[in-house]
Amino acid sequence: MPWEKGAPSPGLVDFLVAHPGLTHGTVCIPGCGTGHDVRTWARAGFGAFGYDIAPSAIGLAAEATRAAGLAAEFQVADFLRAEPPFLFDWVFEHTLFCAIQPKERDEYVRAVLKPQGQYLAVNYLIPDRDGPPFGTTREELWQRFSPHFELSREWVPRSYPNRTGLELMLWWRKKPEAGLVDVA
Ligand SMILES: C[S@@+](CC[C@H](N)C(=O)[O-])C[C@H]1O[C@@H](n2cnc3c(N)ncnc32)[C@H](O)[C@@H]1O
Repeated sequence: MPWEKGAPSPGLVDFLVAHPGLTHGTVCIPGCGTGHDVRTWARAGFGAFGYDIAPSAIGLAAEATRAAGLAAEFQVADFLRAEPPFLFDWVFEHTLFCAIQPKERDEYVRAVLKPQGQYLAVNYLIPDRDGPPFGTTREELWQRFSPHFELSREWVPRSYPNRTGLELMLWWRKKPEAGLVDVA
């Protein structure tokens, strides 16, 4: 598992340190692997839910979370097709988008849209077409997500050493549903 770095996404760690005032809601971490990012959200006070299609990943993630004395929920599920148990406040992306087949990206966007909340993504901007990992560009991300989300912020994060300069973080807030009138 070359993606297993033994530590959470440095960009996520820095984001949570830089935003201590965020409301501690629920966060879905799809394709969570062994759960480093799930534990980071849980440590920051969020209700963290990790999903992975691989039972072995979920087993390791749950065991490491228990050993760390943290509370989080884990489920073996195909994020692209499973119904979320409720409407999460956040979805956090970190190397799931690049792990799925590019032809499944429409399904991925639909799955991210099911919860109501904010979408924080550590995107992996590599040129590879013969993955996984499969590359993407900022242009593709903009085309896929900007119709549904307002971009709050984008930045180049601190990265694992072998990904330095290849990651772009995008913080999106879901647009109000088309057809709904804001009466507040
Ligand atoms: C590259 S790994 C990244 C793991 C973790 N996010 C990390 O960065 O350490 C991708 C993970 O996504 C999982 N995965 C792939 N397709 C999935 C799907 N459709 N639904 C849920 N998990 C999936 C894989 O089993 C794997 O654990």
